[in-house]
Amino acid sequence: MECQVTFVEATAMPARTVLVTGGAGYVGSHAVVQLLSQGHEVVVVDNLVNAPRGNDAASPLTECLRRVQEIAGKTLNFHQMDIMDRSQLDRVFACYSFDYVMHFAALKAVGESVEKPLLYYKNNVGGSITLLEAMKDHNVKKLIYSSSATVYGTPQKLPLTEDHPTGVNCTNPYGKSKYFVEEILKDLVTSDKEWRAVSLRYFNPVGAHESGLIGEDPQGVPSNLMPYIAQVAVGRRPRLQVFGDDYDTPDGTGVRDYIHIQDLAVGHLAAARKLLDPCFQGFRAYNLGTGSGLSVLQLVQAFEKASGRQVPYEVVGRRPGDIAYCYSSASLAKRELGWQAQKGVDEMCESVWRWQSKNPNGYRSS
Ligand code: UD1
Repeated sequence: MECQVTFVEATAMPARTVLVTGGAGYVGSHAVVQLLSQGHEVVVVDNLVNAPRGNDAASPLTECLRRVQEIAGKTLNFHQMDIMDRSQLDRVFACYSFDYVMHFAALKAVGESVEKPLLYYKNNVGGSITLLEAMKDHNVKKLIYSSSATVYGTPQKLPLTEDHPTGVNCTNPYGKSKYFVEEILKDLVTSDKEWRAVSLRYFNPVGAHESGLIGEDPQGVPSNLMPYIAQVAVGRRPRLQVFGDDYDTPDGTGVRDYIHIQDLAVGHLAAARKLLDPCFQGFRAYNLGTGSGLSVLQLVQAFEKASGRQVPYEVVGRRPGDIAYCYSSASLAKRELGWQAQKGVDEMCESVWRWQSKNPNGYRSS
């Protein structure tokens, strides 16, 4: 049968019931806002290891999820639980009739993953397998998977296209865990034609919701560039360390494909339309990036402009494992999902500054 792929406007999508694992985290919470805003019923499960409970310990919701509801003007269902706990997962699956699952729950600190590989494989790979087993037994066989450009390892060719080899030179357990789960998904869809999975390979997510109510709230010292810059600008840290200015790039600092979190969240809705398209089968991976790169110093300058604050920095040695360039080809997502990033670096920095200056201590009040 000839099957034409058509793009349906998000507003025309029938309401669905969606299980969102890790929905209290940075990427997950922005995706939940999008889902709720489009009229979908959302059930969040999260163990809150990387999501502070917030100011009101008596509230059943975290501060982040409370604000998600405030932005969307809708309510969500929340269950604090671990996806590695099969019996709790079964209880959640028994309570709702899910159309599909968005799976964000994972540990994500690269350095920590090198120190604690078993913890990372247990959570990210083991947790995903437990979730997939529960999905199978409850006959929910559609998944959007939160993957990473890190699956490409050291780029052999730029821009990175989805057919670039994966798993080669993935140097840390975090990156390998993302790669392993993609491989598991490929085997799963081959074994049973009812399974469908879309893997979204994020480049460097930055930014915050335009309300300034939700954003990235790293625990401890941020290991990623944008939250570090923001904490320097707000006075929480004295200066940024720039990891190397001797790369073969225009200003010698590393170049990355930063993507606004709002664009990324919208990309998940576009992927969900694909997943639910009756013509879609099997496994498909898409880059979610802008298709172009910015250097560390370009991002620092853009942030100074957006915030009106100075961001003092010192150049130090290269961070082990870092590469000069990493940026996407964003054309497959444009062609097949009808999705493309809309927001530029100024909006990224302005939104981070709004979030950071309104919430200097993140979701904690002090
Ligand atoms: C990192 C992870 C990657 C993960 C991604 C999520 C590593 C090696 N890779 O990518 O697996 O998917 O985050 O967003 O950690 N930089 C500084 N000073 C800092 C922090 C960063 O100069 O304090 C530089 C880095 O050298 C790099 C750029 O800023 O050139 C971006 O770094 P970062 O935000 O950590 O992202 P990635 O290293 O690209």
